[in-house]
Amino acid sequence: MRLLISQALDTSIIDHIQQQSPALEFDVWEGPGAMSREELYQRIGAVDFMLSTLRDRIDQAFLAHAAKLKVVANIAVGYDNFDLAAMSCHQVLATNTPDVLTDATADVTMGLMINAMRGLSRAEAAMRQGQWQGWSPTGFLGSDLSGKTLGIIGLGRIGSAVARRARAFGMEVVALARPGHTRAGEVPQVPQTQLLEVSDVVSFHVPATPETFHWCDRQFLSQMKKGSYLINTARGTVVDSQALVEALRSGHLAGAGLDVFETEPLPLDHPFWELPTLVMTPHIGSAAVQTRRRMALRAWDNIRQYLTGQLPEDTLNPEIWPQLSK
Ligand code: GLV
Repeated sequence: MRLLISQALDTSIIDHIQQQSPALEFDVWEGPGAMSREELYQRIGAVDFMLSTLRDRIDQAFLAHAAKLKVVANIAVGYDNFDLAAMSCHQVLATNTPDVLTDATADVTMGLMINAMRGLSRAEAAMRQGQWQGWSPTGFLGSDLSGKTLGIIGLGRIGSAVARRARAFGMEVVALARPGHTRAGEVPQVPQTQLLEVSDVVSFHVPATPETFHWCDRQFLSQMKKGSYLINTARGTVVDSQALVEALRSGHLAGAGLDVFETEPLPLDHPFWELPTLVMTPHIGSAAVQTRRRMALRAWDNIRQYLTGQLPEDTLNPEIWPQLSK
């Protein structure tokens, strides 16, 4: 049996996998960068299992080259890089890594919120450029978080973790769950029009699907309060970038914080670079040493469970299991 690891992982994780499954052969991509499509096509034919990242598109064209493939374990909670229907059709199990990155992503959401509202990056840049003239009652003013209302769109694990944090910062929280994903809890759930009417900050926590594509469009942004803030640590496709550029340029939004983009990496000629009230981070929601380790081990665990004859815990297409386990 052969395992392909499509992006270099910490060697201690590879050692751990080797110890748990000594008979497994490894094909580890050492870079630089992510594996190209051509590289993947060349190698995937000989592979039984794959530890993938969200940069690997597991679609029909890929699967046509993957005659032996049994499990693709994404080292991510999001799996918009998977064509699940095609994977089921090729009898390939798909898994993700929920739970283990919830806190890390909620932390970055709060970081972007504080940064966008209090202007930390702008203030630091001014200081580094020698523009700090000393303390001033009117210098570097931002907006308080406490006393403001946060509207959370998508009240799953990460949305709920953000709600807990925002309350600790003294914010009121309202939420809109995705259709079919309402959950009982302490956060009041309101319709979108009401959420946009009352929220000083709106934060997205939904997956990238055809239904969530450009959820935050021109009309959505125009219904947000004047002087409010938008945060997106979910997926870039949820926000219409051009509409956001217009809302920030016109000053309708006071600021925004983005960790995810419609095209990653962000093209160097993108209008986002020119917007002073936009703070950006390069898709680092889960980028903490311990979290990334937990993600890789959880992804591997799914493959290990398959190897011991069990349905992997985080299987996304369990409907094919009865056929596979025969
Ligand atoms: C990262 O974006 C993830 O989905 O885990």
